[in-house]
Amino acid sequence: MLTGEIYKPWLEKKDPLARMAYWLTYVVAAIGIGASVVRCWFAAKSVNMMTGNLCLILDDEFNGDSLDTDIWDYEVTMGGFGNNEFEMTTDSSNNTFLRDGYLYILPTLTSDVIGRDAIMNGYTYNITGCTTGGTNDTSTCGAVSNITGGTVINPVMSARINTKKSRSIRYGRVEIKAKNPNGDWLWPALWMLPVNNTYGPWPMSGEIDIMESRGNGLSYADQGSNYVQGSLNWGPLTWLNEVWRTTGWWTERRTSFASGFHTYAMEWDENFIRIYVDSRLHGMLQVSFNVPFFDRGDFPPVVTNGSQQVVLENPWASGSKSTPFDIPFYLIMNVAVGGTNGWFPDNVGDKPWFNTATDAMQQFAEEQDKWAATWPEDDYSRALVVDYVKMWQKC
Ligand SMILES: *[C@@H]1O[C@H](CO)[C@@H](O)[C@H](O)[C@H]1NC(C)=O
Ligand SMILES: *[C@@H]1O[C@H](CO)[C@@H](O)[C@H](O)[C@H]1NC(C)=O
Ligand SMILES: *[C@@H]1O[C@H](CO)[C@@H](O)[C@H](O)[C@H]1NC(C)=O
Ligand SMILES: *[C@@H]1O[C@H](CO)[C@@H](O)[C@H](O)[C@H]1NC(C)=O
Ligand SMILES: *[C@@H]1O[C@H](CO)[C@@H](O)[C@H](O)[C@H]1NC(C)=O
Ligand SMILES: *[C@@H]1O[C@H](CO)[C@@H](O)[C@H](O)[C@H]1NC(C)=O
Repeated sequence: MLTGEIYKPWLEKKDPLARMAYWLTYVVAAIGIGASVVRCWFAAKSVNMMTGNLCLILDDEFNGDSLDTDIWDYEVTMGGFGNNEFEMTTDSSNNTFLRDGYLYILPTLTSDVIGRDAIMNGYTYNITGCTTGGTNDTSTCGAVSNITGGTVINPVMSARINTKKSRSIRYGRVEIKAKNPNGDWLWPALWMLPVNNTYGPWPMSGEIDIMESRGNGLSYADQGSNYVQGSLNWGPLTWLNEVWRTTGWWTERRTSFASGFHTYAMEWDENFIRIYVDSRLHGMLQVSFNVPFFDRGDFPPVVTNGSQQVVLENPWASGSKSTPFDIPFYLIMNVAVGGTNGWFPDNVGDKPWFNTATDAMQQFAEEQDKWAATWPEDDYSRALVVDYVKMWQKC
């Protein structure tokens, strides 16, 4: 063969078997491509699409000087929200503020305000503006540090805001563009709860988690900041949550959801809920409402409650296949820290507390030097930074 001449294998004389093998390669490739097209078509068809119209009911781009309190309420507490979370949530501009057209929810160290010694022993801290009870509710609006008693002042200040009083949807769409926080044991969440507990207390009336993640780095073995999760929480009793049946996630192999902005979306109508990131094709979770939730749970007829046997009642018997996801839900955005509910499992990573320990928060506070060292100095890297929030009601 001359150099510069184009090699044309099909012009070469070959034995018939070699020629057949040659063409077979192309035939098999063509079949492969055809099969992929068919597969994509069926995959696309199985993705539910919303029908009907959407009416925009909230479009907050956070361009003002301060959070619009006609829309958002602060949840101020030291109570840990049933998960024994280690942060207290404040209404302070240290933890929630607008800057350059973005909302920041920024975790800060309580030691910056009262010092390390006060956190560990001999101090009483009462949070101002507590929303979980009167100032007399010392269990959630105040804390006492006592080194021998195993109690500390919540070592982190953070924030949690919601639209409960102002905006809710019953079917529709939510879209939030946000950058997640960096830092060990941070737990950012964009999620929804029912306005009314129509079918009973949590999780009987449902919970929709649009995005939950962890601030731990990519080396963390139980899904660090390169994972985002979507899920539905539901169950027929307060201690029976079937969230594991309706949980999914999206992951990026080498990039973190805490290194840049991503768009989180939830679409919801009478037939399905779909939660995805950036593109409809990057689905975290899709739940078709084709089976009533009580059947989906595959529950035993009788469950054990302490020493009692309880006949399991269907709290959604009066509803439809989408019940309990057929009532108005409002939006919540927060950055939590730690907690003992298993979001951070024991024995994964260099975890400074045990979820079963009664003094878990004290264990966490003792290791502050270790975890605080992983929290970036600059606000932008450490915060949950939100570009905009949009909510549409199906109309
Ligand atoms: C905000 O942070 C500053 C600096 O750490 C502190 O002095 C101040 O007390 C904090 N404000 C509140 C309300 O915690
Ligand atoms: C707190 O307790 C005092 C004294 O018992 C009572 O007068 C006050 O109304 C209580 N405050 C709240 C907010 O419950
Ligand atoms: C905190 O609140 C408790 C209960 O209302 C009260 O007894 C205590 O004096 C308060 N402590 C501080 C430091 O404000
Ligand atoms: C601290 O806790 C210990 C053990 O529970 C208890 O004996 C002690 O009275 C507590 N101290 C204060 C100041 O409450
Ligand atoms: C929630 O319940 C209250 C009291 O029954 C009622 O006034 C309100 O309209 C309900 N809100 C929604 C969104 O269902
Ligand atoms: C379960 O047991 C607790 C404590 O005895 C009781 O308060 C609760 O009502 C029981 N729940 C059911 C569904 O029986």
